[in-house]
Amino acid sequence: MDKRVFLIFSILFSFLALGHGDEKHDSKPQPENSKVSENKVHYGHINEAYQKSIQPIFQKACYNCHSQNVDYPWYYPLPGVQSLIDSDIEEAKKHLIFTGSYPFKGHGTPKSDLKAIRAVIEEGSMPPLRYQVMHWESFLSDQEKEKILSWIESATNMLKEEEE
Ligand code: HEC
Repeated sequence: MDKRVFLIFSILFSFLALGHGDEKHDSKPQPENSKVSENKVHYGHINEAYQKSIQPIFQKACYNCHSQNVDYPWYYPLPGVQSLIDSDIEEAKKHLIFTGSYPFKGHGTPKSDLKAIRAVIEEGSMPPLRYQVMHWESFLSDQEKEKILSWIESATNMLKEEEE
């Protein structure tokens, strides 16, 4: 399953990327800051795949902290809980905001954000355990993890290294 999904994405990405890239180069001279602008050509394609298969997973498992659409839990008003949740969300949003499309908002570059997401998915550190315990639906299945990782792999292969 994971291999096939990855293969389909890779083929789709390279096909789209080539087609798109060629058009760009014909009509416009290469801008000077080439790594960043070469990467920009790919963001749309990466986002397309993101919206289709990754965003629904993030909505379920990540949006309650890393977005503007926080769905507060019933226990939010309990003494002490509110400030814990508020600081979690504030901290999470300083790192990454998933609301909207790829590239995400946050302190990293579009490529370093992918690396950071890969790291937390591989470690299993996001969503944080204390949160998973209360939100069973936020558990990522192995299949969901594989989907996220193969999206990141295809995307990362398309993007050049950028300065942080
Ligand atoms: C309960 C709130 C919460 C949820 C849900 C949550 N996060 Fe986080 N996330 C945080 C907090 C708080 C931090 C910052 C502190 C830390 O790194 O532990 C963070 C940090 C991160 C970072 C590190 C960013 C960096 O700059 O290194 C990544 C990547 C990340 N989260 C991805 C995710 C993903 C992907 C999901 C869903 C699968 C998710 N998070 C779900 C609270 C959350």
